[in-house]
Amino acid sequence: MTINIKSAQDIEGMRVACRLASEVLDYIAPHIKPGITTNEIDRLAAECMAQQGTISATVGYQPPGYPPYPKSLCTSVNHVVCHGIPNDKPLKKGDIVNVDVTVITKDGWYGDNSRMYLIGETSIAAKRLCAMTFDAMWHGIVQVKPGARLGDIGHAIQKFAEGLGFSVVREFCGHGIGQRFHEEPQVLHYGKPGTLDELKPGMVFTIEPMINAGRREVKEHGNDGWTIVTKDHSLSAQWEHTVLVTETGYEVMTISAGSPPLPSFVTSTKT
Ligand code: MF3
Ligand code: CO
Ligand code: CO
Repeated sequence: MTINIKSAQDIEGMRVACRLASEVLDYIAPHIKPGITTNEIDRLAAECMAQQGTISATVGYQPPGYPPYPKSLCTSVNHVVCHGIPNDKPLKKGDIVNVDVTVITKDGWYGDNSRMYLIGETSIAAKRLCAMTFDAMWHGIVQVKPGARLGDIGHAIQKFAEGLGFSVVREFCGHGIGQRFHEEPQVLHYGKPGTLDELKPGMVFTIEPMINAGRREVKEHGNDGWTIVTKDHSLSAQWEHTVLVTETGYEVMTISAGSPPLPSFVTSTKT
């Protein structure tokens, strides 16, 4: 199996899809505060996508063995690791929530990204987990350049996260993306330097580490076929960008006016 290399024209299509995916997160950001329900976040995102002329990649998404995913995005609160389904429960002060948005443009290109949001004042531990998971994602991103390997990305994330006493979820990974939601390669968020596929200009994939405050094990929540939680009920955080391998390094594609500032060890969204 091979990793798809995007042409200059493909990359133009991906830039549009990824910017729009990031703009959906910008659009909902001012509304995410105590009292809002995750269904309301979902509705706002659907409204934004309708204005953009994009559609959600998640509505009706049904990998083998799963029920069709019912909503326009994923909202994963506190100990939910990923794939949380929006519902009518209001968010409350102290919660943390990941919102994960994937859009499809009219030309069929996918842009995939997620951010953490803090609901009102949170514990110092929750704030730190969210901030350090953001940095963990960026430690992975800065590895990206031609000649580097996928294992370099995973290793950088794992070393940073475990060095802080956090753990890295193994069951879910980043993925190639283009005119399909999930394609090769799998981008593990743990690993050994110098292993796995070599990165080449034109590859596009996501980096989306899920980092737990406690143990790394996860389980299915139970009845909906999607929601994944930490086994020990510890908090979990995740950030996601879609990244292009360029001739000289990387270009983070899921960037827009509301993207959070870069960590101090990163100088640019493109190298
Ligand atoms: N957006 C997620 C990812 O980063 C996938 C969500 S699939 C869903 O790959 F069906 F749960 F929405
Ligand atoms: Co995503
Ligand atoms: Co993804």
